Amino acid sequence: VSDHELPTREAIEFAARRIAPHVRRTPVIEVEGPAFGLDEPLALKLELLQHTGSFKPRGAFNRVLEAGVPEVVVAASGGNHGFAVAHTARSLRCRAEIFVPATAPPVKVDGIRALGARVELVGTTYAQALAASAARAEHTGALVIHAYDQPAVLAGQGTVGRELEQQSPGVDTVLVAVGGGGLIGGIATWWSRRARVVAVEPVGCPTLHAALRAGTPVDVEVFGLASDALGASRVGRLGFAAAVAADVSSVLVPEEAIVTARRLLWQRLRVAAEPGGATALAALTSGAYRPAPGERVAVVVCGGNADPGDLAAPVSSRSGLAGSPASIPDASPRTP
Ligand SMILES: Cc1ncc(COP(=O)(O)O)c(C=O)c1O
Repeated sequence: VSDHELPTREAIEFAARRIAPHVRRTPVIEVEGPAFGLDEPLALKLELLQHTGSFKPRGAFNRVLEAGVPEVVVAASGGNHGFAVAHTARSLRCRAEIFVPATAPPVKVDGIRALGARVELVGTTYAQALAASAARAEHTGALVIHAYDQPAVLAGQGTVGRELEQQSPGVDTVLVAVGGGGLIGGIATWWSRRARVVAVEPVGCPTLHAALRAGTPVDVEVFGLASDALGASRVGRLGFAAAVAADVSSVLVPEEAIVTARRLLWQRLRVAAEPGGATALAALTSGAYRPAPGERVAVVVCGGNADPGDLAAPVSSRSGLAGSPASIPDASPRTP
């Protein structure tokens, strides 16, 4: 990756101004530590309240507005990126073609179609959908919006970091979930060693973790309940380079910790995150990342597109919570 491909803080500043009319400034709330089994309070950036339920429109709008709004945009994704691109195209009045693996859940495919995008079902993997979208763009001249490996996409996602710093100044540590690396790449670039950035991945989707060990992006097997969002099989070149340049730390969290973090967000705050959206918090609640006393920690809750039907189960003591659950009051309402 050459230096000019990596986004800079200035590019993120510019992206923030460019996309401001199109994205929500999502709230940050300060929550008390004990409700989450922690000693210290923490800040949660509720980016699941963004348009389409994840941070993805930031990168998509920045990519399209930087390139100039074309007639047609193409993207590969059956999930949050596909939703975001369909939304972006509709807002900017261009057409979207989204290439989706035939295995994508019908609810997501229907959602993308409902936003007016044309859906092409191709193959069974993201890689096959990506190849088909690239071939289509080559043939038609449509603008490709990559899910994570384009400079404008990283800069757009980096605006989450910029906003968080404005809303919660003095943060020491930011925890961020990683799929293909667009979000961590943008956020790490924003802080660029002014705060510790911790990359959090499920044990079943260790793409950045494996790349940091190998010294270069490598293919990994991906599985698990967050893999629809975090299951890129190889971290992107740009996200990897940005993460290395900013010296991010990397931790892995077990499946059950993600389940617990999701349930805690629901029980304590009535926030319904998807598994990928609760993964960064799981690093704290499971003890995979243990802040020092007084360390000011922020967590990006980055997505909410999942069926909330399984959130009601109580958090049990065997479910991957680091602190003593018995000491945590349950905020669930009691039926009078
Ligand atoms: C909710 C959610 N969180 C995190 C990610 C990972 O983002 P990135 O691919 O930029 O690492 C995604 C990607 O789809 C997502 O949908």
